[in-house]
Amino acid sequence: MMTWKERSLAAFPAGSNGEFNLPEELTIVIGRGEGCRLWDVEGREYLDFSMGWGSGLVGHANPAVVEAVTRQAPLGSNFSYVHENTLLLGEELLRLSPACERIRFSASGTEATLYCRRLARGFSGRSKIMKFEGAYHGAAEIGVVSLFPKDPPPFPQPDSTGTGASQAALNDVLVAPFNDLETAVSLIERYADDLAGVIVEPLQRCTPPAPDFLEGLRELTRAHGVLLIFDEVVTGFRLAYGGAQEYYGVVPDLVAYGKALGGGYPIGAYGGRADVMDLVRESRMNAAPYVWSASTLGGNPISTAAASAALSVFREEGVYPRLHTLGRYLREGLERVMQDQGVEGRAIGDGPLAQAAFGAEPAVNYRSTLQWNSSLARRVMLGLFERGVFINPMGTKLYLSIAHDEPVCDEFLNRFSDALKAARE
Ligand SMILES: Cc1ncc(COP(=O)(O)O)c(C=O)c1O
Repeated sequence: MMTWKERSLAAFPAGSNGEFNLPEELTIVIGRGEGCRLWDVEGREYLDFSMGWGSGLVGHANPAVVEAVTRQAPLGSNFSYVHENTLLLGEELLRLSPACERIRFSASGTEATLYCRRLARGFSGRSKIMKFEGAYHGAAEIGVVSLFPKDPPPFPQPDSTGTGASQAALNDVLVAPFNDLETAVSLIERYADDLAGVIVEPLQRCTPPAPDFLEGLRELTRAHGVLLIFDEVVTGFRLAYGGAQEYYGVVPDLVAYGKALGGGYPIGAYGGRADVMDLVRESRMNAAPYVWSASTLGGNPISTAAASAALSVFREEGVYPRLHTLGRYLREGLERVMQDQGVEGRAIGDGPLAQAAFGAEPAVNYRSTLQWNSSLARRVMLGLFERGVFINPMGTKLYLSIAHDEPVCDEFLNRFSDALKAARE
C-alpha cells in the first residue's frame, strides 16, 4: 500500500499544490489545523509560521469564522450576484479603505491585482505597467515577471523566467528597483505617454519602504496621469485595519486585497476611485472605455461571511498593537539568536511579518537580497521544517497570527537556534 507521502508525490508535481519546494523526504499531507498549529495525517504536530501564506491571520478554525461559515453553508454557497453577506462586507471595505469609493470581489489575490492592471489600462488608454523587481503580484504574467531573476537584466527590462509570458506581454512591463525614487522618476518621466499604472507592494515582501518612497510615487504618478496601484494582498488588514494605506498614510488610486481578508476562505477584492471602478459598469459595454470584470465565485456568501467574521475579530480592541508587539518580539528574538551564534544578519519585516536575512547587506530592494546567504537560509528553513515548524521553505516570510503568542515564538526561536547551529556545521 502506498503511503500518504507517496500518493501525494504521485498525484502532484513535486508533491505540492504550488511553490513549496520541499525535498521528497519531507513531503507531508495535512490533516487539520487549529489556532497556530497544524497536524499531518499521521498525527505529527507543527507550529505554523506560514498560516496559509498569511491567509490565516485570524488563526486556523477561528470560532467566529467557523460559526459564520456554518450558519451560511446550508443557505447556499454561491449565486454569482450580490448576496446580503457580499454587501455587508463591501460596505465595511469602503469604510476601512481610504482609497476605495467602489469595490468588487474576486476569488483570489491574483485576480484582484489583474483587474487593477486592466482597469488602469482601460482608464488611461495606455498599455505599460511598471512593477518593482522582486515583487509578487499573483500568478498572472506581470505578477511573476522579474520575481526572482538570478542574473537581473538592466532596468527597466523584464526577466521572463517562470512567467510563460509572450514577448508582447513582456513588452508592456517596466521593471524598476524598489526604494529607488530617482530611477522611478526617470522611468515614469520617460515612459509617461505609454504608462497606465505603477503597481507596488507597499511593504515589498519583508522590505519596508524607504521614507518618502511611497509618497514620491504618489506625487509622481498623479503628476503624469498614471494610476498608482497598491497590492495590499499581504499588507491589507495586517499592518493596520486599513492596511498599508492607513499605516503609511499614502492613498493609491486602486487597491487589491486577498489573503487575511477571507479568514482562510478564498477571496480577493479590488477597489478604488469611483471614476476608474465605474469602467466595469455593464451599461458601458459597447462604448470604450469599458473593462470586463467577472468572477464566478467572487463575493460568494461563504467567503464573505468568513471575511466579515474575520474583520470583526480584527476590529477588537488591541489587536493591532498586539500583532506589532509580537512581530517585534519575533524579530528581536531572531536577531538575538544570530548574534549569540556570531552570524552576521538581521531580522526584517514589519507588523506581524518577519524574515531572517543572513548577511551584512541591509534590506533595500531585490538586489540587496541577492547579497544574502541564500544557501544558509535554505538549510535553516529545512531544519526548521524537520524540527516541526511548518513554513514555506521557498518563501521568505514568517507569518504570525492572532493565535500566536510569546511562548509559541520562544518555542520557534529555540528550534530556530538549533536549526541555525546545525546548518552551520
Ligand atoms: C503581494 C501579493 N499579491 C498577490 C498575491 C496573489 O494572491 P493569491 O495567491 O490569492 O492569488 C500574493 C500571494 O502570495 C501576494 O503575496
